[in-house]
Amino acid sequence: MHTQLHPTIVEDYASNASNTGNSVLILDQTRLPQIAVQVRLNTVDDVAHALRSMQVRGAPLIGVTAAYGVALGLNHDASDSQLAQVIALLAATRPTAVNLHWALARMQRVLQKSALVTRRETAWHEARAISAEDVLTNVSIGEHGLHMLTMHPRNDAALHIMTHCNAGRLATVAHGTALAPIYAAHAAGIPVHVWVSETRPRNQGLLTAWELAEAGVPHTLIADNAAGLLIMQGKVDLLIVGADRIAANGDTANKIGTYLKALAARAHGVPFYVAAPLSTIDFSCLAGFAIPIEERAAAELGVGNVPVLNPAFDITPAHLITGIISERGVTTAEELAQWKT
Ligand code: MRU
Repeated sequence: MHTQLHPTIVEDYASNASNTGNSVLILDQTRLPQIAVQVRLNTVDDVAHALRSMQVRGAPLIGVTAAYGVALGLNHDASDSQLAQVIALLAATRPTAVNLHWALARMQRVLQKSALVTRRETAWHEARAISAEDVLTNVSIGEHGLHMLTMHPRNDAALHIMTHCNAGRLATVAHGTALAPIYAAHAAGIPVHVWVSETRPRNQGLLTAWELAEAGVPHTLIADNAAGLLIMQGKVDLLIVGADRIAANGDTANKIGTYLKALAARAHGVPFYVAAPLSTIDFSCLAGFAIPIEERAAAELGVGNVPVLNPAFDITPAHLITGIISERGVTTAEELAQWKT
């Protein structure tokens, strides 16, 4: 789908026989879109910092990076107590994105079963597997989403799709989730145009605009508050957003501002889709009220000396969601339980 792109995460292979890594290189998303620079993460503390500071961000990429963080954390000490400490450190970095906790639980499950002598190798192997699976999962989300887009009526030469935050390749190892169907449609020759909302306060919309430009997909950046007007004016055929955690009943946590878009979409009869891998569905969370909402620093709003509340996510109730697109296909929130394994 993409050629010659700056990878979001890449392992630095050690030239040793044990097939373990020394470090991982991440694309520093706090420097984008101004400059594309890589940062080397050598230790689990480096990984925890990259996650907290959002040098690495986006639910699937957070999970992959955390898995590599576990591997880095075991490089010099693979004991049970070190494993527990490393997992606790990483788990505390971002509360809402369940892919983080999903990846850590998977690493823990596999590593607890592994003998101490092979644990380091197993950790790198499993982190690589999680990373590789992310790519395939997103290709699949793209294919299912493309099928839906192919059948979607459009009022204009192009299909106008609104998205929020960045749920593109930068939020994953490759292809993205919400943007995967858009890339697939673009590649299939379906004319698409993307309304990209700015996404205050962190402006992840700029990341979306950057990667859409990189891929040659027509797009227009808007202030978050312009979304309602455009939806009302009939300039939006459908919305596709990502997700940080989907509860068992389909209620969906995604970047703050998503809920208002879903409300506007419902008010004007515009379909509202969520695209996410199965690892974003938390069947242990019965409904949206149980999803922890991350509160971030006041400084992100760029003001000093005023009281600030900065919730990073909101909950879109299942009844506002037309469909959830995953690697299994497209389903309604009511039918989400069919994906429980
Ligand atoms: O705080 P962020 O930038 O990590 O939040 C990202 C989002 O809310 C994305 O929409 C979500 O993680 C889906 S990413 C494929």
